[in-house]
Amino acid sequence: MPWADGQGNPAMAKILKVEFPKMDSEYIQKKKDEEIKEIVTKGKGKMPPVQGISDSDIENVITYLRTFDDKK
Ligand code: HEM
Repeated sequence: MPWADGQGNPAMAKILKVEFPKMDSEYIQKKKDEEIKEIVTKGKGKMPPVQGISDSDIENVITYLRTFDDKK
């Protein structure tokens, strides 16, 4: 999937009428794990809470998200 690189799915952004932040950006990468965890479970702004995701899956997603930082 082209958006597996953290750039978001443009078609989905259009449908939802939102902009997904770039996951390799400094804005995202500067966030602490705890903050990202809270965003996932509680939602933030136009992002809804992610339903039915386990703590360990959130940690796995954050680990994946951190790999984007090295690619710059
Ligand atoms: C585990 C999965 C996800 C992770 C780790 C994640 C992570 C994030 C992070 C870190 C932000 C930045 C929030 C901020 O500005 O402080 C964000 C924003 C956003 N996310 Fe997610 N997200 C996930 C799932 C989703 C899903 C499923 C959707 C849509 C259905 C979504 C839609 C958005 C939108 C629209 C924003 C921009 C919010 C705004 O600026 O108002 N996210 N996400």
